[in-house]
Amino acid sequence: MRAVIASGAGGPEVLSVGELPDPTPGPGEVVLDVAATAVNRADLLQRRGLYSPPPGTSDVIGLECSGVVSAVGPGVEDWAVGVEDWAVGDEACALLAGGGYAERVAVPAGQLMPVPEGVSLVEAAALPEVACTVWSNVFMVAGLRPGERFLVHGGAGGIGTMAIQLATALSARVYATAGSAEKLRTCVELGADVAINYREEDFVAVLREAGGADVILDNMGAKYLGRNVDALATEGRLVIIGMQGGTKGELDIGKLLRKRGAVIATSLRTRPPEEKAAICASVVEHVWPLVADGVVRPVVHTMLPLDEVAEAHRLMADSGHVGKIVLTVG
Ligand SMILES: NC(=O)c1ccc[n+]([C@@H]2O[C@H](COP(=O)([O-])OP(=O)(O)OC[C@H]3O[C@@H](n4cnc5c(N)ncnc54)[C@H](OP(=O)(O)O)[C@@H]3O)[C@@H](O)[C@H]2O)c1
Repeated sequence: MRAVIASGAGGPEVLSVGELPDPTPGPGEVVLDVAATAVNRADLLQRRGLYSPPPGTSDVIGLECSGVVSAVGPGVEDWAVGVEDWAVGDEACALLAGGGYAERVAVPAGQLMPVPEGVSLVEAAALPEVACTVWSNVFMVAGLRPGERFLVHGGAGGIGTMAIQLATALSARVYATAGSAEKLRTCVELGADVAINYREEDFVAVLREAGGADVILDNMGAKYLGRNVDALATEGRLVIIGMQGGTKGELDIGKLLRKRGAVIATSLRTRPPEEKAAICASVVEHVWPLVADGVVRPVVHTMLPLDEVAEAHRLMADSGHVGKIVLTVG
């Protein structure tokens, strides 16, 4: 099969398309013929040699894809979610631990999801990582409730565009940060009640004035740790999923304690397959109907062929994109 190969750790130029052996499905796995995959920030770290794939998983980059089932391993029926059973010829999208930048990938069947109604097979590649990350962190872990105030940083990114739509659909009051007029407009179009230009405004002041954030979804890590805690409401939950602003910060425990607040950090990729399967099942149950109704939609900035993978990585590093960058494969 054709797959993206890295000649070593480094910049986008180390990536090119070469040949690798086809995968075969192990017990509980299916093989997908990949129609499209999408770029994630973690892919850039993996390319630079800073983020190894979990043990036993493909070392080909790529955390999500869509495609058509081309082989089914034994025991798959125990994991079918949202379908009777998986069979050759079925269209699906998948959350992966790796291997998406290729013509074929073996996937634990619990991480396979039907393509939501109204979404094309190619667009569906833009959904698994953002839907599973936002749903698991904001709703399953932080328990955002209708009427609560929700702050998401990086509101116009892949995660942010999904977080705004889902929190809006589930009746939260949504605050989003972004760094340009165009991105702020996107946040509002997607449903944000308040869009904050983090280059010009202090998000802490905006949230404090409103009574504090009940849930914050944070991509910045260390850089925003203190200010995020300042922006929390009483019993607020800060969920850190990214470290774009560094890994080592200082936390005033007294402030957190007085607010009876929680700081949580999670990584989807390193969760065991059973937990990923539970998240995918919950996404199919709760998020896919919103996608089918058109209330939540995939936001795709651009689609490039797999051969232009290096350019796709440059685009993400430059951060000019809104939503997801998709690579078409099939
Ligand atoms: N833990 C997990 O399981 C998990 C899973 C998926 C993703 N993630 C992480 O989640 C983060 C977001 O992923 P993504 O796919 O949405 O990436 P993305 O599409 O590149 O979005 C990141 C956004 O961050 C914004 N940003 C940069 N500096 C900022 C600042 N100081 N304040 C507020 N926003 C800022 C950028 O926009 P501006 O132009 O507005 O600055 C950009 O839109 C990444 O760090 C990724 O690694 C974690």
